[in-house]
Amino acid sequence: MKLILGLAFTAAFALIACAGKTAQDIPAEQRTPQTIFTQICSRCHGDQAQSRAYGVSQVIANMSAEEIEQALRGYRAGTYGGAFKGVMREQAGSLSEEEIPAVAAYVSALGQ
Ligand code: HEC
Repeated sequence: MKLILGLAFTAAFALIACAGKTAQDIPAEQRTPQTIFTQICSRCHGDQAQSRAYGVSQVIANMSAEEIEQALRGYRAGTYGGAFKGVMREQAGSLSEEEIPAVAAYVSALGQ
C-alpha cells in the first residue's frame, strides 16, 4: 500500500514538474526559438507543432505568426484562451518581449 501511494505521488509530482517546465528553465546562453520550441512547447504541441495540446488547442503549426503572437500576448494579459489558459499563461509569461515574435515565427514556419 505504501509503495502504491509512493508511486502515485511520484507520478503526480512528475506530471506537475513536467507541466511546469517553461522557457525560463533553459539556460540563457542556450535559449533560441528552436530550443524553446523543441524543449518546451513540443512536449504538449507535438514535435512539429502538429498536435492539439491536451486535445483542446488549435494545431498551432496551422496558425500564422501574427495569430500565434497575438495568442501568446493574450495569454500573458489574461485576455485570451479557453479552459486551460492558465497553462499557457505560465508558458507565455516565461518568454521575453523579443522571444514572443521569434518563437511565433519559428512555429508558423513548421507548418509551411
Ligand atoms: C504543458 C503543456 C503546454 C506547453 C508546454 C505549451 N503549451 Fe501552448 N497550449 C497548451 C494548451 C492546453 C493550450 C490551450 C489552452 C486554452 O485552453 O486556451 C495551448 C494553446 C496555445 C496556443 C493557442 C492555440 C489556440 O487554440 O488558440 C498557442 C499559440 C500556443 N499554445 C503556443 C505555445 C508555445 C509557443 C509554447 C512554448 C513556449 C507552448 N504553447 C507551450 C499547452 C501547452
